Amino acid sequence: MNFESQSDAFSLEGKLALITGGGAGIGFEIARCMISSGAKVAITGRNEDKLKEAVSVLGSSASYFVNDVTRLDTLEALVSKIEKDLGAIDILVNNAGINLKKPALEVTDDEFQNIVQTNLNAVFSLTRTCARRMVERQKGSVIMISSMAAYYGIDRVVAYASSKSGIEGMVRALASDLSKYNVRINAIAPGFIETNMMKTAMGSDPDRMNKALGRTPMGKFGQTTDIGWAAVFLASEAAGFITGASLPVDGGNSIGF
Ligand code: NAI
Repeated sequence: MNFESQSDAFSLEGKLALITGGGAGIGFEIARCMISSGAKVAITGRNEDKLKEAVSVLGSSASYFVNDVTRLDTLEALVSKIEKDLGAIDILVNNAGINLKKPALEVTDDEFQNIVQTNLNAVFSLTRTCARRMVERQKGSVIMISSMAAYYGIDRVVAYASSKSGIEGMVRALASDLSKYNVRINAIAPGFIETNMMKTAMGSDPDRMNKALGRTPMGKFGQTTDIGWAAVFLASEAAGFITGASLPVDGGNSIGF
């Protein structure tokens, strides 16, 4: 592909991104980075006030749609409405996710299923819905958010780790199915990034916090922008030959001793 300047390859000008759970944390920052790279974004979440507030900060390139990703029967209507209102979705970021920190043997079946429903089942359902359209148009980029919990063993997050490990397999399987239609599927595996989710998991657990930092060669936690810019790259034409990959954005945590 030819670009007038090198920066064009990283531009998201003219593209529309759907970002689940975009009202806060990593999703909000992915939205911000994508907008500053030229994209329009549609963010979703369950709380309208939070979404409204997020859009007021993100500006006129952002729109919100109230949606709970676990309600799988609503996802087709959600995607239809977004495409009717804003145009074709070029980029899907499956960001919405929840965690549960509890000793494995105390996790109930309902709790386990609840995590898997949000972090895995909903991701497949929404990706299938968007990817059918992307395949028809012969272009698209899907980004999943994985985790260090899918890379190595972490105690007290059995449901979360299972769901994120499922994401890693889903990325490879979907990339195998959809590459011939010019639809790319990748994951970002964030290290420990300063958000509410991370603070909840680490706040009252200094041992865990020190352990996470201790095996991070860069010696610090990540910022939401670190994930935002990685998402811009994976969604852009600069990453045009990258599919089926899981990119650690972790300050070296996954390779640290
Ligand atoms: P967060 O808790 O700050 O944000 C999560 C967002 O997802 C919120 O806006 C929330 O409302 C939304 N969400 C949750 N359930 C939803 C549902 N059923 N429907 C629609 N939206 C829903 O968490 P954070 O840290 O920003 O996490 C974002 C993603 O990054 C998650 O998938 C998480 O597993 C992943 N991640 C985060 C890491 C971290 O260190 N913060 C590390 C590795 C992965």
